[in-house]
Amino acid sequence: MTTVTDHRPAAGAVPPARVDDLAPVLPVVGADTLVPLVDGREAPYANLDVAASAPALEAVAAHVARVLPLYASVHRGAGYLSQVSTALYEQSRATIGAFVGARADDVVVVTRNTTDALNLLAGAVPADPLTGRPGRVLVLDIEHHANLLPWQRSADATVLAGRGSIAATLDALRAELTDAAAAQAPYALVALTGASNVTGEALPVADVVAAAHAAGARVALDGAQLVPHRAFSLAHSGVDYVALSGHKAYAPYGAGALVGRRDWLDAAPAYLAGGGAVRRVRVYETTWLDGPARHEAGSPNVIGAVALAAAARALRGVDPEALRTHESALRARLVAGLEAIDRVRVVRVWDDAVDPVGVVTFTVAGYDPGLVAAYLSAEHGIGVRDGRFCAHPLLGRLGFDAGAVRASVGVGTPGSDVERLIAAVRALVADGPQAQYDVVDGLWAVVDDPRPVPAGLGLDGLLATAAPTTDAFGCATY
Ligand SMILES: Cc1ncc(COP(=O)(O)O)c(C=O)c1O
Repeated sequence: MTTVTDHRPAAGAVPPARVDDLAPVLPVVGADTLVPLVDGREAPYANLDVAASAPALEAVAAHVARVLPLYASVHRGAGYLSQVSTALYEQSRATIGAFVGARADDVVVVTRNTTDALNLLAGAVPADPLTGRPGRVLVLDIEHHANLLPWQRSADATVLAGRGSIAATLDALRAELTDAAAAQAPYALVALTGASNVTGEALPVADVVAAAHAAGARVALDGAQLVPHRAFSLAHSGVDYVALSGHKAYAPYGAGALVGRRDWLDAAPAYLAGGGAVRRVRVYETTWLDGPARHEAGSPNVIGAVALAAAARALRGVDPEALRTHESALRARLVAGLEAIDRVRVVRVWDDAVDPVGVVTFTVAGYDPGLVAAYLSAEHGIGVRDGRFCAHPLLGRLGFDAGAVRASVGVGTPGSDVERLIAAVRALVADGPQAQYDVVDGLWAVVDDPRPVPAGLGLDGLLATAAPTTDAFGCATY
């Protein structure tokens, strides 16, 4: 049974210093954007929802602007710009591969996002050669739905409940893999997160790879929360597949990737059936291509791939230790600052996690998480996420079925944003919210929210904060 332990610092421990002066590592677009507050003032937007979607790096936006005039049809166009665009697309593929340390023979499939990448991989796990049944896949219950549901649907999936410590969870994982192999029902794949989108924690990849490979299983890493924040290499880690999303890696232009071993991908049915994935088509017979094209039917997202590659170059241009130090300082301060507030509880999966990425999930006793998030936005201009973060099994097991609040940071986060969040939560606990809130269509919203929508975009009446009209936005269903 996993327990949620209280990690408040021991008496006498020195809490991390304030981080007011900690500057971003890389500039992001929109860092100075002002947002309206419910009292009529404006505040610079504190984007602490980077784990959901990160703002574009300035370098990415600049590169996209430079490339857009060169954009034309790819692959089949004979025109000069078509050839330039094709070269840009294929060059981006190589850059994305290098970003995750792809081996020489690995395939880089450009996808829409991590969800898309893992669904593609789920269709490529080979059937058990003895039984003909779908290949067995082992996952933990801490996963994002993107790394649970594809296996649940198309593979023979087993979900292992995490234990209270990393060490105990690894023991359980090893035992499951060994027992399955001994019972002649070996796993084909272990699919696990590189960093939890709820807590930033992860199992040590090297131990998982060693255990899986010893039992004849491959390893797929959900890299959505890992690769934007830590240097990662397929070749060095021995991981077989990694999935990632551009919009979490400061390249919000609609592309992601699946990178990994060629054999399964070449043997799998084409992920999408259509143009570009085929060598030869007769009316009733098709010969499919191998390699990435096999799974990329239809016109590819050239600009998405170019943007993702630009983000990869920008991130790799920074000393990985600088990234880690920046993010660790922000996270440590967030945790310490929040835990120092009465009634605040920080969520953890494990007692002994090492080097979590910049994601901190918490609750404030007496306040619904949705109300806390609405308050942070309306009264402080701070953007966070509330709910169960597409990780319902984990939140349920840890006792947070009613949801929680998540703050997340990245390369563009200044320390002052973290200090604003801590101060705002402290003020909530001390004085309560100053505005009036109500639940409208299942969402917390300011009563008679006076905040204007940005002018000139035709958004009147469509914003989620405009409580009386949320139906128009379909917010009730999110
Ligand atoms: C750990 C993790 N995996 C997968 C996903 C899914 O990513 P996407 O929505 O880009 O497919 C997310 C998104 O939040 C995530 O945090």
